[in-house]
Amino acid sequence: MKKVTTSTLRKMKQDGEKITVLTAYDASFAKLFDEQGVEVLLIGDSLGMVLQGMDDTLSVTVDDIAYHTRAVRKGTQRALVVADMPFMTYATTEQAYQSAAQLMASGANMVKLEGGEWLLPTIAGLVQRGIPVCGHLGLTPQSVNVFGGFKVQGRLPEQAQKMIDDAVALAQAGIQMLVLECVPSALAEAISKAIDVPVIGIGAGVKTDGQVLVMHDMLGISANYMPKFSKNYLNEHGDIRAAVAAFIKEVKEGVFPGTEHSFE
Ligand code: KIV
Repeated sequence: MKKVTTSTLRKMKQDGEKITVLTAYDASFAKLFDEQGVEVLLIGDSLGMVLQGMDDTLSVTVDDIAYHTRAVRKGTQRALVVADMPFMTYATTEQAYQSAAQLMASGANMVKLEGGEWLLPTIAGLVQRGIPVCGHLGLTPQSVNVFGGFKVQGRLPEQAQKMIDDAVALAQAGIQMLVLECVPSALAEAISKAIDVPVIGIGAGVKTDGQVLVMHDMLGISANYMPKFSKNYLNEHGDIRAAVAAFIKEVKEGVFPGTEHSFE
């Protein structure tokens, strides 16, 4: 069993093999997802919503993410483990070093932070200090109050160009993975072609290098709510292992996401 590393992900992009990512917050689900072959497990700050019952991710702390990262690490043998840096825990570069150090010490292989150009010195500094970084552009949920709601981003031509410029700049600063959330499919495709860093989409169409879903959405746990970009695989397959296997198969074959899960 070969561990998934940043080199594995880059090679998968080069070879055109789609990358699968699921959120995980505990050892049991991490083990199940890992055994099924999911390449990347993300301890997302979505845990504020799906575990803590909040309306957004803003109250999540580094200690929260560190706690769940330790659990996910325990359950994981092969997958790359990525930990989210919560809201305002990387507002300054020094603060980012402290937060990232705690998450790496808790078992993360990479940290993820939300934002564009303003983060360039922080990203370069983290990478120089040995911390792999995943960027996150588009609908960055920590900025929900600036956006005025959870809304698709990059529909206007100038916003789209800014997102492409940000992605290129983040890649130059050293990110080794990029999440694109809720952006028009054509823009996500353009960004995926513009950089050699693996681009993982959620609500970003089928042309990105991989897909991520929140586990509670793909297992239909979030009662009465299913985002347009997600799909309830448990409903279709009736068993968690089969649901995860179906997610992996559909992503690898370019079946998921369909146009009904994407934005124009
Ligand atoms: O917090 C999270 O789970 C995320 C994914 C939606 C990409 O950032």
